Amino acid sequence: MASSSVFRYLVLLAALVWILELAECGNGTVLRDTAWSNGSWFTMGLLDFEKWSNQPNLFSPKFRLCTKLPGLTAGQRRVCRRHKDHMAVVSQGVKVSIDECQYQFKYRRWNCSVIGDGTVFGPLTHIASRESAFTHAITSAGVSLTVSRGCRDGRLASCGCARAPRPRSLHRDWLWAGCGDDLQYGYKFTESFIDIRERERKVKRGSREQGRQLMNRHNNEAGRRAVISKSKVTCKCHGVSGSCSLITCWQQLPSFREVGDDLREKYEVATEVKVSRRGRLRLGQPGYSVPTAQHLVYLEDSPNYCVSDDALGSLGTAGRQCNKTSQGLDGCDVLCCGRGYNTKKVVLRERCECSFKWCCRVECNTCVITREEFTCK
Ligand SMILES: *[C@@H]1O[C@H](CO)[C@@H](O)[C@H](O)[C@H]1NC(C)=O
Ligand SMILES: *[C@@H]1O[C@H](CO)[C@@H](O)[C@H](O)[C@H]1NC(C)=O
Ligand SMILES: *[C@@H]1O[C@H](CO)[C@@H](O)[C@H](O)[C@H]1NC(C)=O
Ligand SMILES: *[C@@H]1O[C@H](CO)[C@@H](O)[C@H](O)[C@H]1NC(C)=O
Repeated sequence: MASSSVFRYLVLLAALVWILELAECGNGTVLRDTAWSNGSWFTMGLLDFEKWSNQPNLFSPKFRLCTKLPGLTAGQRRVCRRHKDHMAVVSQGVKVSIDECQYQFKYRRWNCSVIGDGTVFGPLTHIASRESAFTHAITSAGVSLTVSRGCRDGRLASCGCARAPRPRSLHRDWLWAGCGDDLQYGYKFTESFIDIRERERKVKRGSREQGRQLMNRHNNEAGRRAVISKSKVTCKCHGVSGSCSLITCWQQLPSFREVGDDLREKYEVATEVKVSRRGRLRLGQPGYSVPTAQHLVYLEDSPNYCVSDDALGSLGTAGRQCNKTSQGLDGCDVLCCGRGYNTKKVVLRERCECSFKWCCRVECNTCVITREEFTCK
């Protein structure tokens, strides 16, 4: 498989980048805690970059773009200064991630709602739960994907079409050409821009903070890997009137929905871990299988998200729409946490029984449909 060789290459690359960064850090990057705990770079997803893009001097040093972006750590600001033109693409990546998260969790107790504060997902982000694991994985995946796509579309100065090696399994007569998505660049950039947050702050080995850093890095990586593992070689026919005398192939990114589905499945089977005294992640419960780099991990149990709790930032499920007949998580029993539900009759008017009249009209009746809607008490 093509993607497996790309993958091996990336794993090596990631290790190398990591070692280099460690060497580079020294003691120059031990930063104030405030920058780290107060506000998150997720806020980039809430920015209106369209508005900024009218600024003629957006990338000039005078504009100080990287200082104006909220929630960046000092390390991220350094990366930003080297790659200012990436920031609009990063912002878009976070945006699509938030949308995808809300799609995937629409009918769950935790529905990925955005709280209007610096943390984006609210105080819940301070709990090292599987929901936090998911938000890290999906944003990392989203940025990775949009940056790779940005390369191909010529939106970024430092990358372009992918020059991935030709997969060995590709048919001899087919051309390995076209402008592929630059998966490697997206992976590498995301690794340096996002994971740097977890590396620049010195914490005590084996502490809860260190556990959280390791957890975040693990889940960020799982997100990036989901993008790579779902990407595939795509081919197209050329030639006179579709004769297909020439076939070209390239590496193509998956749709973000495929990545979201994949990560949601990973969320369901996320593994509980704990941090050992020596500063490594270990299985939280014996008997479970050790998570691979593609799996999500978490340190702490989730709150039940049933009742509104300002301190936790949990909105509760009162008022949420539920499904009376479903036995699943969207069913009223589960979603309403046993509190019961209200039933409302809604009357809908729809065009129906449409027929085609010669010539040329479509005639319809209006049907009145009553439907019941259920909302949690
Ligand atoms: C590194 O640490 C040493 C001693 O702790 C200090 O003198 C030096 O200024 C530090 N370097 C930087 C770049 O902070
Ligand atoms: C940062 O923390 C300060 C003090 O805790 C708070 O007043 C401020 O609103 C916070 N900013 C953000 C963006 O969360
Ligand atoms: C999530 O649920 C809350 C109520 O618990 C609701 O106000 C909010 O609109 C929902 N968000 C999304 C994105 O569905
Ligand atoms: C409710 O759940 C049932 C069973 O899972 C499903 O067939 C039905 O389409 C759902 N209804 C809505 C409105 O989502």
